[in-house]
Amino acid sequence: METADNNQDREFWDRRYRQQHRIWSGEPNPQLVAEAGTLEPGYALDVGCGEGADSLWLASRGWQVTGVDISAVAIERAATHAAAAEDPMQGRVQWVCADLRSWEPPARTFSLVSLQFMHLPEPERTVLFARAASAVGVGGTLLVVAHHPSDLTTAVPRPQRPELFYTADDVAAALEPDQWTVRVSEARKRLTAAPDGASVAVHDTVFSAVRLA
Ligand SMILES: C[S@@+](CC[C@H](N)C(=O)[O-])C[C@H]1O[C@@H](n2cnc3c(N)ncnc32)[C@H](O)[C@@H]1O
Repeated sequence: METADNNQDREFWDRRYRQQHRIWSGEPNPQLVAEAGTLEPGYALDVGCGEGADSLWLASRGWQVTGVDISAVAIERAATHAAAAEDPMQGRVQWVCADLRSWEPPARTFSLVSLQFMHLPEPERTVLFARAASAVGVGGTLLVVAHHPSDLTTAVPRPQRPELFYTADDVAAALEPDQWTVRVSEARKRLTAAPDGASVAVHDTVFSAVRLA
């Protein structure tokens, strides 16, 4: 995330991506690997897919993936990474440049909808969760991973905008409780490197639920 601009619109993200040849590690997010690694491959929606590492990891495991992001620069980069990957994988990923605040994914379609570090303020965040949830088919999984509010005080750079952070309970509150079985709802500790190279504990909000109806 970036701290300088409070309005994180398309221009903001395009500018952010143009600042560096590559922003993210190119590796799939660890909580995605932990939570989706044992799921049976099906159709997946990677919301805010960025440079595409999660989408490509899912595709490499047999998922048919739609990666969606507001930034055309990110989507172009993700497509470039896919083109450089093995042929069979390319056919399993499609990229959509869209703003989740206005774009509605197809309803009840995906067996996995993954949001990794999507930090919108309210009220957009609730809209985002509702959209993402509506795209999950019966028996499918909604997985939301984010920087936990306790990370506001770690040595790892985080935006000093508390309104962008949320807990697993905040995700649950946006869902119809009778339509979901919650599998994971926690602040999960993870070790990462601070700018000075020291190992620092951070916490990820991890929420995973399966749609019942
Ligand atoms: C912190 S990055 C995370 C990228 C990727 N999920 C990862 O973990 O590496 C957030 C991503 O969400 C995208 N994004 C932000 N707001 C969005 C919106 N309203 N609709 C779609 N994508 C959005 C940004 O362009 C950016 O790529």
